[in-house]
Amino acid sequence: MGVNYAIIGGTGVYDPKLLDNMREEEVATPFGSVVVQIGQLEGREVAFLARHGRRHSVPPHLVNYRANIWALKLLGVQKVIATAAVGSLRTDFSPGEFVLVDQFLDFTKNRSATFYTGETGVLHVDMSDPYCGELRAALAEQAGKLQLGLKNGGTYVCTEGPRFETPAEISMYRLLGADVVGMTSVPEVILAKECAMCYASVAMVTNFAAGIASKILTHVEVTQNMAQMGEHLRALIFNTLQSLAVERSCLCQHAPDELGKF
Ligand code: HPA
Repeated sequence: MGVNYAIIGGTGVYDPKLLDNMREEEVATPFGSVVVQIGQLEGREVAFLARHGRRHSVPPHLVNYRANIWALKLLGVQKVIATAAVGSLRTDFSPGEFVLVDQFLDFTKNRSATFYTGETGVLHVDMSDPYCGELRAALAEQAGKLQLGLKNGGTYVCTEGPRFETPAEISMYRLLGADVVGMTSVPEVILAKECAMCYASVAMVTNFAAGIASKILTHVEVTQNMAQMGEHLRALIFNTLQSLAVERSCLCQHAPDELGKF
C-alpha cells in the first residue's frame, strides 16, 4: 500500500510528532524536488509536508505549490488534510476557533494554478465542491467528539500576500461573501483536485483581519495563537485520519475525467 494520506502543515504546524517510524524522502517532480516526511499512524502511511519549508523560509506567494502536490501524487496520496492560518472577517469567528472552509474566492495574482497548461492537455476542473465534502464531514465529526470550537463552513478569500490586507480590501472581501482570509489555499486546493485527491483545509483563526480589530496585525500574533491551538489541531487531524475509510464515495476521484474530451 502506498502513502495514502498527507498532512500539509502551514504556519505553526511544523512538528509531525505523532507519526511513528519517521523517514524523510526527497521526491523529484517536473517542478523541482520536494522533501517530505513519511511516518505511520496506526499502520497507515502518512506524508507530512511543511508548506513554507521547515523554517518558514518560503513566503506564500513563492511556495512551489505544483511541486508539492505533484510530489504527493507520486507518493500515491489520495487524501490531504491541509492547515491554514487565517484572519477573520466576522466578529462571530473568533481567534482560537477552527473553520472548515467549504468555498474560496481567488484574489491571487501571480501563481501557476494548474497542471494543464496546454502541452499536457486542457482540463476545466469542476469546483462545485472545492474542499472535499466527505473529508469535511469526517473532520466535523471528530471536532465534535473533541468538543473543539469549530465553524463548519466558510468562504476563504486567498490574497497574494505577503503583505496583510488593507481595511478597505477586507470590507470589499466581506461584501463579496468571504468569512476568512489567508494566502495559501489557492492554488493548492485546485491542484489537488486536478490530481483527483480529496482535499480539506482546517483553517485556524489566528486574528481578526485588518480593520476588524482595533490594533495592527503582526506575524507574532498569528504564530502565538497558532501555538496555542496546535495541540487541538494535531488531535483533530490524527483522530480524523484514523477514522477515514480507505474507499471514497465522493466525486473527487473523478475530477480529471473530462481531460482531453473537447
Ligand atoms: N490575512 C492574511 N493571511 C493571514 C491572516 C490575515 O489576517 N492571518 C493569518 N493569515
